[in-house]
Amino acid sequence: MKIYYYNTTDSTNIRAKQLGEEGAPHGTLITAGQQSAGRGRRGRGWESPAGSSVYMSILLRPEIPPVKAPMLTLVMALSVVRSLMECTGLNVQIKWPNDIVIHGKKVCGILTEMSTQMDYINYIVIGIGINVQNESFPEEIGEVATSLRIESGKKQNRAAIIEAVWEEFEKYYDIYLKTEDMQGLVGEYDQKLANMNKQVRVLDPKDPYEGTARGITPKGELIVDTWE
Ligand code: BTN
Repeated sequence: MKIYYYNTTDSTNIRAKQLGEEGAPHGTLITAGQQSAGRGRRGRGWESPAGSSVYMSILLRPEIPPVKAPMLTLVMALSVVRSLMECTGLNVQIKWPNDIVIHGKKVCGILTEMSTQMDYINYIVIGIGINVQNESFPEEIGEVATSLRIESGKKQNRAAIIEAVWEEFEKYYDIYLKTEDMQGLVGEYDQKLANMNKQVRVLDPKDPYEGTARGITPKGELIVDTWE
């Protein structure tokens, strides 16, 4: 496995994509101490100051059809949950599909990006940002964000977390590859699902609706019960 570490970089996902274009192999890991242009989902930014968090991206070259790739984000979510529980002993959960929460507050976000042909994946980059040592958050996000330090009351070792995420991902990735879907992971994923049996709002662009979350399907979709 090849590891790239940057004291400062724009974004580990951008670095990983560049390495992907240059032919870097499956399993390349990129981490940074801080990011000057950290990226979140839906075009948002991801605050990435020095000293507080884990910023890491993994470059993958799976031989699977592009339609199956989004499930890898769920595989990573499960891997992060397992590794954070192992490192901190806290009860860490998933807010479907891939936000990681503790006591309902977000502690980690995952951004998956890919480069594909019609029926072929060039590479996938899974970026993970984990709030580790933060002792507080700006007022705008304090209601919804937390860190391992805040939740555990202790300092946590970032290198140990990166290693644990990597090891857990290797394990769950192998299970995923057997069926190329979530079949072998549904049970564990559902157990860690923060939304389980709770009211959720589905933001269908044409027709948003509410229902009760009942877990995921082997394809990684959330089952929402709208029976009244
Ligand atoms: C989200 O919006 O929830 C996803 C946030 C993902 C942030 C991580 S930090 C490491 C990697 N590099 C980036 O620029 N983004 C991801």
